[in-house]
Amino acid sequence: MNSLFGEEEQAREELAQLRKQVAYHNQRYHAEDAPEISDQDYDKLFTKLKELEEKYPHLVTEDSPTQQVGGATKREMTTHPHRVPMLSLGNAFAAEDIEDFSQRVQKFLNLTSMPAIVAEPKIDGVSLSLTYEQGKLVRALTRGNGQVGEDVTANARTIKDIPTQLTGSYPESVDVRGEIYITRDDFDALNATQAAAGDKVFANARNAAAGALRQLDATITAKRPLKFFAYSLGHISADATLPTHQAELAALAEWGFVGVPLAQGFAHVEDILSYYATIVGQRFEQPYAMDGLVYKVDDKALQQRLGFVARAPRWAIAHKFPAEQATTVIEAIDVQVGRTGVVTPVARLKPVQVAGVTVSNATLHNEDYIKERDIRVGDSVFVERAGDVIPKVIGVVPGKRQEGVPIYSFPTVCPACASELVRLPEEAAWRCVNHLNCPAQLEAQLSYFVSKDGLDIDGLGEKQIKRFLEGGFLNTMADIFRLPSHAAEIAEWDGWGEQSVQNLVQAIETRKQISLPRLLAALGIPMIGLQVATQLAGAYGRLADLQAVTLTEPDKLVDIDGIGPKLVESLQRFFAEESNQQLLADLQAVGLEVEDYVAPSTVTSALSGKTVVLTGTLTSMGRAEAKAKLQQLGAKVTGTVSASTDLVIAGDAAGSKLTKAQELGVQVWDEAAWIQQLKRDF
Ligand code: IVH
Repeated sequence: MNSLFGEEEQAREELAQLRKQVAYHNQRYHAEDAPEISDQDYDKLFTKLKELEEKYPHLVTEDSPTQQVGGATKREMTTHPHRVPMLSLGNAFAAEDIEDFSQRVQKFLNLTSMPAIVAEPKIDGVSLSLTYEQGKLVRALTRGNGQVGEDVTANARTIKDIPTQLTGSYPESVDVRGEIYITRDDFDALNATQAAAGDKVFANARNAAAGALRQLDATITAKRPLKFFAYSLGHISADATLPTHQAELAALAEWGFVGVPLAQGFAHVEDILSYYATIVGQRFEQPYAMDGLVYKVDDKALQQRLGFVARAPRWAIAHKFPAEQATTVIEAIDVQVGRTGVVTPVARLKPVQVAGVTVSNATLHNEDYIKERDIRVGDSVFVERAGDVIPKVIGVVPGKRQEGVPIYSFPTVCPACASELVRLPEEAAWRCVNHLNCPAQLEAQLSYFVSKDGLDIDGLGEKQIKRFLEGGFLNTMADIFRLPSHAAEIAEWDGWGEQSVQNLVQAIETRKQISLPRLLAALGIPMIGLQVATQLAGAYGRLADLQAVTLTEPDKLVDIDGIGPKLVESLQRFFAEESNQQLLADLQAVGLEVEDYVAPSTVTSALSGKTVVLTGTLTSMGRAEAKAKLQQLGAKVTGTVSASTDLVIAGDAAGSKLTKAQELGVQVWDEAAWIQQLKRDF
């Protein structure tokens, strides 16, 4: 057999296989709202199919998923044709793909430079087309297969962001298109409610939004936290003149819609790419999920000329972000014991790339989280990196479980000290209550004690604590100050030398004089961080006084601003415990001197009443300390830069917040200026 022919035969078979797979996953995703693979894996399959078809164009069949938009419509719902088809978008993953897009557009239009482009987020939700006649909402359709959508008018009417009557000057007839979505916070709350009621928990916000929008009973839709961003128009009557995409976005706002946020016009590919980098960096700061940016040729006349091929327009492209979600297999479930004894289950995963990072561990939160999702060892699972740094297991991929896999049962004893775990009635977490007698809790507490939030001892971190524990030097927090007596021995260890030991000894010695707030925070008393500790120290100046008031007149503490009864209870429990009294005595015995604390007067500070944002890394102190200091100076510390921000303190590698401050003309201090101010005020 001719080898070329053989190769083509093989391609034919592979194409048939890929078409079948993609069609199947389309059906799972679009018609059943129950995807089995991550978007990333779907994209891979789809790209493979497209590339193979490009190589063998004569093998492209009419029924190939590349020639269609979306999936089939869900049964039982009334359908209606779209006046203008709802298209899909071509995907780009790398900068070169965007360069290619730009070249294609220029070549097609016979231009020598790229026409103006608008970049805006690709919202990870479900698309919806809304028809307005004389300003009144008459129909809402899902995308369906792109030509015919499902009628969800009654459901759309329950969504606050969707006006039933347009405002301003609107055309006689218009289709408004946009994305239905659920914010991250609303999604978490929704899943918590579902779980509490014993109902199904959703794999992600988009599936929850899709399911809610396509309910046959609109009263269910009304109960779901659906929102809508408008991003384009479909059909529009001839009485309107909107020559650009930006003009459309402005019109949408005038008519009463929330337009897609962060839309911005650009003239050069490089600027688009740097905007992409900016948005990638801050995507988790937005309350909604986005899976990329969409670049659109701004000029509608040019859009018309460019037209579309198969399923996607030539005038737009989606520049996808690295996936936030992926699928992989749970190889084991371990439990970790934290500083406060809380036991957290952790999934050990077959390593997988999520949003550009290799993930091999992910949190499973607590026992209920596992039970609600029936997660078992050996399961294929969806893994997500959302706003949080720690990845989480979202749920089990349906239909992949091997037979006979046992239900996961949560341990009943502490993996570190074998004492019985307890679960308080109002808590989701199991705890080991063996406190610092539990080696895991001791290790975590020691690490915290010396960390930036605690005593802030230079050169002492988790790794060193582990090593000193192994060396048998650490049994209590006071032993940290006894480390210098082991200096000679430590200097002999691998990776340690005279100099590094000397530095460590020096760092420990300098921390023997410690401010009261810092010591209180370092002790790791539940609910008492640096900020609360500073409040308490401000009211009672001396450790002995604070201890006496806590034990004899606790009600007095509640009068301090920001101190509630739960916090007082926690402090009481700490001071009443004999082992803690022993610890405080030991700390004194090893030479710890707690400085009396005088709260600085906030009245005279240049920062009183000012709204301040901290960003970037400060080298002279942790963020918690800087925040506490600012609060003592009477400033309000917030997390986002806006027009009402008075000052931004920018440390090293400050990013989007600094840029925003500069754009808004907000005053910016570098670390040196901040330290100057502290020297003046403290
Ligand atoms: S424009 C022909 N803009 O992405 C233009 N779509 O894969 C098609 N989407 O079906 C739509 N955010 O559901 C556009 N800012 C945005 C979008 C967006 C999300 C979705 C939409 C569409 C899909 C295309």
